[in-house]
Amino acid sequence: MIDLDANATTRMLPEVVDAMLPWLRDHHANPSGSYRNAKFARKAIEEARKQVAELIGAEPGEIVFTGCGTESVNTALHSLHTLSSEGAVVTSAIEHSAVLRYLERLKRETKIVRVDASGMIDEDAFNESCEGAAFASVMMANNETGVIQPIPRLLEIARSKGLPFHTDAIQAVGKIPVSVKSTPVDMLSISAHKFHGPKGIGALYIRSGFDFSPLLVGGGQEAGRRSGTENTAAIVAMGKAAEFAKQALESGLEKDLAAMRDLFQNHVMEGLSGCALNGAVISRLPNTTHLSFQDCDASGMLILLDEAGMACSAGSACMTGKRKPSHVQLAMGISEAVAKTSLRFSFSRCNTHAEAMQAAQIVIKSVAKLRSVQGGGTGPVAIYTS
Ligand SMILES: Cc1ncc(COP(=O)(O)O)c(C=O)c1O
Repeated sequence: MIDLDANATTRMLPEVVDAMLPWLRDHHANPSGSYRNAKFARKAIEEARKQVAELIGAEPGEIVFTGCGTESVNTALHSLHTLSSEGAVVTSAIEHSAVLRYLERLKRETKIVRVDASGMIDEDAFNESCEGAAFASVMMANNETGVIQPIPRLLEIARSKGLPFHTDAIQAVGKIPVSVKSTPVDMLSISAHKFHGPKGIGALYIRSGFDFSPLLVGGGQEAGRRSGTENTAAIVAMGKAAEFAKQALESGLEKDLAAMRDLFQNHVMEGLSGCALNGAVISRLPNTTHLSFQDCDASGMLILLDEAGMACSAGSACMTGKRKPSHVQLAMGISEAVAKTSLRFSFSRCNTHAEAMQAAQIVIKSVAKLRSVQGGGTGPVAIYTS
């Protein structure tokens, strides 16, 4: 199977599995215990905290482990909501449902800032929305298009109005350098399975000294910031994955991912008419390309690609199975009809250039097959290249 669905999840690196196994098989002690085995587990967790902190330029004490990326996001929003005074919440129209659904639950005024045709947030609208608001949460990179938002600039705007700022950096961390030193947000969400760690483990960065109110209360683990007995195995594995991600970024991961992605994308676009690239070309994750194929229903494409041994997504993985077009594409002004012809291809370090070429051939053939079956018309095609 050629796996071009890395934004949905990534394969655990063998070294990460190796680091995790002893904590599943051999060491079961509760890290809160006072005996030797418990202290061993505690030490492993603190080492992992250091590794995760180093990946984003944080201090270990600023990292709180959570049960997944969604919990990290929910915790951040819960805390900001609980501690803020009156005023609206500011977010963008293209956030992941972990943000949008949680904000809906708050039943609080929410200003949803529009994006332009390239998927970039409208900075003027963000500026206006921040006036008199309580806090802001904007994602660092979009899971569908890969478009990277101007977080340093948005943070500056939020700060100028006294607003705390959270960013969902779940798609960015491990794919591009992320530093809370150079971009000092108040809170930042991470998920291990997006950078070759296990599923079901995430982290929330909370800037030292920043006011915080926990979502989960109970035994007071994680310095009272996230109760619940720690999942030592997953935490250790997340730490190892973070260490590998840092090393990979330092040795040119971005360039390698972009080379594979561009090889695939250029081959597909040269080999097909009626193929459009969605989202900003420059400010984009190096591993992601989001393409629309005129007269090709995405669900039909997914079946053909699966039969040919290739995995990718229509919209975000969380939306597959639902018939609604992606809210991200609609927010970018892409019509429902075109949105239903769009696929996301996302690469990881586990892919090869040979796979990128092979995948491009498969896509070209599948589009031709589907067009011949579906009759091919001259439906609308959107081209967004800014
Ligand atoms: C941008 C973004 N935020 C949040 C999440 C949720 O993360 P998790 O699957 O770890 O709960 C995802 C996962 O796809 C994501 O892409």
